[in-house]
Amino acid sequence: AKADIGLTGLAVMGSNLARNMARNGSTVAVHNRTTSKMTDFLDQHGDEGDFVGSESLEDFVASIEKPRAIIVMVKAGAATDAVVDELTPLLDEGDIVVDAGNAHYEDTLRRQQALEEKGLHFVGMGVSGGEVGALEGPSIMVGGSDHAYERLGPIVEKIAAQVDGTPCATHVGPDGAGHFVKMVHNGIEYADMQLIAEAYDLLRSVLGLSPAELAGIFREWNEGELESFLIEMTADVLEHEDAETGKPFVDVVLDQAEQKGTGRWTVQTALELGVPVTGIAEATFARSVSGHAEQRAAAQGKFGAAQTAGVEVDKEQFVSDVRDALYAAKVVAYAQGFDQIVEGSNTHDWDVTPGDMATIWRGGCIIRAKFLDRIREAYEAEPDLTTLMTQDFFADAIEQGEPGWRRVVVAATESGVPVPAFASSLSYFDALRRDRLPAALIQGLRDNFGAHTYQRADKDGTFHTLWAGDKSEVDA
Ligand code: 6PG
Repeated sequence: AKADIGLTGLAVMGSNLARNMARNGSTVAVHNRTTSKMTDFLDQHGDEGDFVGSESLEDFVASIEKPRAIIVMVKAGAATDAVVDELTPLLDEGDIVVDAGNAHYEDTLRRQQALEEKGLHFVGMGVSGGEVGALEGPSIMVGGSDHAYERLGPIVEKIAAQVDGTPCATHVGPDGAGHFVKMVHNGIEYADMQLIAEAYDLLRSVLGLSPAELAGIFREWNEGELESFLIEMTADVLEHEDAETGKPFVDVVLDQAEQKGTGRWTVQTALELGVPVTGIAEATFARSVSGHAEQRAAAQGKFGAAQTAGVEVDKEQFVSDVRDALYAAKVVAYAQGFDQIVEGSNTHDWDVTPGDMATIWRGGCIIRAKFLDRIREAYEAEPDLTTLMTQDFFADAIEQGEPGWRRVVVAATESGVPVPAFASSLSYFDALRRDRLPAALIQGLRDNFGAHTYQRADKDGTFHTLWAGDKSEVDA
C-alpha cells in the first residue's frame, strides 16, 4: 500500500512531525537528503507506526498515494527552494507540496504562484509548539487551496493539539495566509515574552526578590487569568539553578536575546500595512538593544546605572500592580496582533476568520493561554470587532488594571528599570482614547515646510496655508 503522506527533512522538527502522523494512524513516507539520517530515523522510531523509507527522491515520491501530499521540513529560504525545485519535476497534477518551516509569507506567495503554473498546489503551513509540540500536538496554521486542505486537513487535524475536542489546526486561507498568521503568532510571542521579562525585572529590581521567590509569584499568577504556557515556563526557568555554579540560571546566561527573524518580519510587515503593533515592535527592538554590547558598555561607563531615589512600594500592592500591568499590556499586544491579521487578510483577500486563530492557538502553540478562549468568544460575539480592547471582557480587564499599570510605569521610570513594552502599550491605549492628538501639529509642520496639505476637522476638503506669504488658507 502507498503512504498517506510524505515528509522530507528529518531534523528534529521533521522527524517529530513524521512520528506524530504515524502514531496517529497515517502511513508516512520519509526521506532525507543525507540517507543515513533516514535510516537512523527508521532504526530509532520505525516501530512507532507505519513508515516507508526511501533513499532517492524518485522512490520517495513514487511511494505516496495520489494526489500526493509532501511535507518539506528544511531550513527556510534557499534550502526550501532547492528541495521544491528538485521535487516539482517528479510530481503530477494536483499534487501538494507543503512547507512546514517558518517561511516568510511572501516567499510562500511566490512559491505558490510558481507551482500553480505547473498544476501543483503549494501549502505554507505554520507549525507552532517547538520540538515537543511537533511530536505531541502542535498548533497548525494551514494556507493554500481548498483542494490541498481537503487532502491534508484530516491528517493535520489528527496530529494537532486538541482543546475541548476541537483540533488546534485549521485552513487559515489561501496561499500565504498560513505563514502570515504564524508570523504574527511569533510576533505576539515576542511581545508576550518581553512583557514577562519586564515584569520579572521590575519585581526583582524594585522589591529585591530572588529568582526562586519570583518563580513562586509566576506560579501563583498561572492559577489566574494569566494562565499560560509561557508564564508556567517562566516559573520553571526562574527556579532553575546552574549545575556548575549553583547560581540561579538567569544570572549566568548572557543577557543578549537572539532572534531568527519572525518578530522582525512581523514588524516590517506591520509597517508596510500601516498597523501599529507597538508592543511587538518594542519587544523586537528590546532584543536588539540587549545585543548591542558596545553601546551598553559605553553608556554604563559614562553614566553608570540610573541614579534613582529608590521607590518605596508596598510589596503586595506592587506585585498586584505588576500583574495588572502585565495583563493589560498583554491585551494590547494581542489586540494589535489581531489587527495585523485582519489588515493582512483584507490586503491579500484571504478572508481569514480572526476568531479561528484564537481557537487554534488555545493549545499546542507557544502562546497558548487561557485568555485565548476569551478572544475566541469575543470574535464569536462580534466577528467584525474594531479592536479587541473595547470588547466588554477585555475592556473590563484594562479598566481594572489601569491604575496599577500606570503606577508600574511610574515606578519603573523612577527606578530606572526599562519597560518599553509596558510603557508603549500604555501610550497606545492613551493615544486611542484621547479626543485630540498632537498629530494636528505634525500636519501643520508638514504643510509649513513642504506644502504637504492638511484636512480640517470642521469642514471637508484639502487645504494649504501660505506660510511664507500672508498666511491665508487656500484650497489645495
Ligand atoms: C513556535 C516558535 C518557533 C520559533 C521560536 C524561535 O511557534 O513554535 O515560534 O517557531 O522558531 O520561537 O524564534 P526566535 O529565535 O526568533 O526567538
